[in-house]
Amino acid sequence: MAGVYIHIPFCKKACHYCDFHFSTSLQNKDLMVDAICKEIDARQNYLTDKKLSTIYFGGGTPSLLNYDELSRIISKIKEHFEIMPGAEVTLEANPDDLTVEKIKELTAAGINRLSIGIQSFFDEDLERMNRSHTANQAIDAVENAKSGGINNISIDLIYGLPNLTIEKWNYNLEQAFKLDVQHLSAYCLTIEEKTAFNHFLKKGKITLPKEPETIEQFELLMSEAEKHNFIHYEISNFSKEGLYSKHNCSYWMNEHYMGIGPSAHSFDGASRQFNIANNMKYIKGINAGIPDFEIEILTDENKFNEYIMTRLRTMWGISTSFISDSFGEKSRNTFLSVAEPYVISGHLQWKQDSLVLTKSGKLLADKIASDLFV
Ligand SMILES: C[S@@+](CC[C@H](N)C(=O)[O-])C[C@H]1O[C@@H](n2cnc3c(N)ncnc32)[C@H](O)[C@@H]1O
Repeated sequence: MAGVYIHIPFCKKACHYCDFHFSTSLQNKDLMVDAICKEIDARQNYLTDKKLSTIYFGGGTPSLLNYDELSRIISKIKEHFEIMPGAEVTLEANPDDLTVEKIKELTAAGINRLSIGIQSFFDEDLERMNRSHTANQAIDAVENAKSGGINNISIDLIYGLPNLTIEKWNYNLEQAFKLDVQHLSAYCLTIEEKTAFNHFLKKGKITLPKEPETIEQFELLMSEAEKHNFIHYEISNFSKEGLYSKHNCSYWMNEHYMGIGPSAHSFDGASRQFNIANNMKYIKGINAGIPDFEIEILTDENKFNEYIMTRLRTMWGISTSFISDSFGEKSRNTFLSVAEPYVISGHLQWKQDSLVLTKSGKLLADKIASDLFV
């Protein structure tokens, strides 16, 4: 089965840490929805499998779409694909959009999972990040979603933030688990080049926690999640048993997906396709019938490295039989010779025929992955 990702490139405000593709001018929202529908028509044959198990509205801020806009896109998907019973239909949302009325609209349009960007339960930190909501609004958003019948809710938090002490992070985690949601994504802050945070950092206007403090925050995250029976199924993702993000898992399991909208990526097993990250160029290209995208044909080397990078971060780990079946016995042997010292040092462990990160290995995931690349 396959998945569809729709990128909604609009936000009310620019968060100071974010370098995802979005515009804070909502002027062309209508034109964008038209173009997205046209792209779905034009690429109806991109996926050989017409049965969808996941649809994911990401952004930007998809909760800025109104009922009609969302319904138009979902109807367009239904014209060309079969949405399977039990399919996961997720929408990323900002808390200030999630009123009782809005939740009704979202469920009526077919959304059955929300990913709510909370980031922090401290108003001073939300302000520093230039978020468009308060901590109380975030709590209300989750309550509105629950009472509106959405029973698959994920929330996002960020650690490693300026001024985030271990005590404040502990409070954020307590609040998160108190909300009794099904899923938590907790990201370590990355300072991206073209963001306000990078600028502030260079000017000395913000300071980040030192590495040992960030590690302590990650360790607290892991232990609190375990205490609350959340499964750490990917470095940044935790969920109640079985309630993993099906859509994100499909990225890590090498399944095919079609990404629609500016900056969206697609994967058909042989190549990756990247839509242009510019709203007007995207709309013009689609309307002229000359979509603006780049394509990368994947070599065996690319495929091997992608497999290592994505699977190492998951609790399913790297299957050595998959490596020999897909890349040959020689690749398996080379892989094992590089992995072995990490098994001896306790960073990797065997689970059947797969190598999986241990707790200490999770702290070194990027380094271990890059050593295992060809
Ligand atoms: C791009 S946002 C879109 C969803 C929604 N508009 C929001 O702001 O919550 C998706 C998530 O990416 C995470 N994120 C974005 N930039 C990040 C960064 N530089 N470091 C860590 N996490 C980041 C945030 O947790 C955010 O909730």
